[in-house]
Amino acid sequence: MACVISILMKDLADEVALIDVMEDKLKGEMMDLQHGSLFLRTSKIVSGKDYNVTANSKLVIIMAGAHQQERESCLNLVQHNVNIFKFIIPNVLKYSPNCKLLIVSNPVDNLDLCGLKDKWLSQKPCYWKWLQSGFNQIPLPDGERLGVHPLSSHGCVAGEHGDSSVPVWSGVNVAGVSLKTLHQDLGTVKEQWKEVHKQVVESSYEVIKLKGYTSWAIELSVADSAEIIMKNLRWVYPISTMIMGLCGIKGDVFLNVPCILGQNGISDVLKVTLTPEEEASFKKGADTLWRIQKELQF
Ligand SMILES: *[C@@H]1O[C@H](CO)[C@@H](O)[C@H](O)[C@H]1NC(C)=O
Repeated sequence: MACVISILMKDLADEVALIDVMEDKLKGEMMDLQHGSLFLRTSKIVSGKDYNVTANSKLVIIMAGAHQQERESCLNLVQHNVNIFKFIIPNVLKYSPNCKLLIVSNPVDNLDLCGLKDKWLSQKPCYWKWLQSGFNQIPLPDGERLGVHPLSSHGCVAGEHGDSSVPVWSGVNVAGVSLKTLHQDLGTVKEQWKEVHKQVVESSYEVIKLKGYTSWAIELSVADSAEIIMKNLRWVYPISTMIMGLCGIKGDVFLNVPCILGQNGISDVLKVTLTPEEEASFKKGADTLWRIQKELQF
């Protein structure tokens, strides 16, 4: 619902269709939104359990996924999600064969690996890229630290989405002025910057601990991506995409890198210059994912 409201506030569509397995809750949410339609510019809001309500969609955003159970292994969770997607994707494509798919899921990189794309999408003109969480945009903590607005400081967290993600400090800059120039002592206060990265990784766990889940930041980021796609803005955005060949990675793995996003999804991947240390972490993330991916069943 955080995503729906973010999309509605952006006036991106003339029709929004909601789909869920919990029929009553869904109908309640739809009616509640419809009652607010005086304040919205999207005239049609529909919902249903049957995928036919989504027919002829331009963009389909999928946010389904299993919660990680206590002591559930990562592999188990990913397999569980793979099974859910095996049901959802063909149904979506049945009614909207030309849609773009925006998948919001966690663990994001592993789900991407799952080879679903080969099964259903190789013949379909569909966009199959997995969106990375907004938490991966380093401007959040970094801008705070530098005392400039996040939009004015540039940098990214690449690689795996989680503990072995790679903050590309060497590329962080404000108006082209690198952080290294701004902070001559970057080497000596390295620990402090490591702490910033740690906070980025852990902040979502803290939110989950406090409110049970994350919703606003991630869904604002999803709505932003939806706008970029619908308006063909070609913004650079960190997204999980197939990176085989990058840094000598051999597996068919998907990792987070800055991509150019437009009406056809990802059109280009920017080759980030990494220091040897950053490259090593990037590869380590790829190995971690590959180990899990190898075990998945389709
Ligand atoms: C969608 O399918 C349901 C049956 O599952 C049917 O009752 C309904 O009329 C269909 N709606 C459209 C728009 O085709």
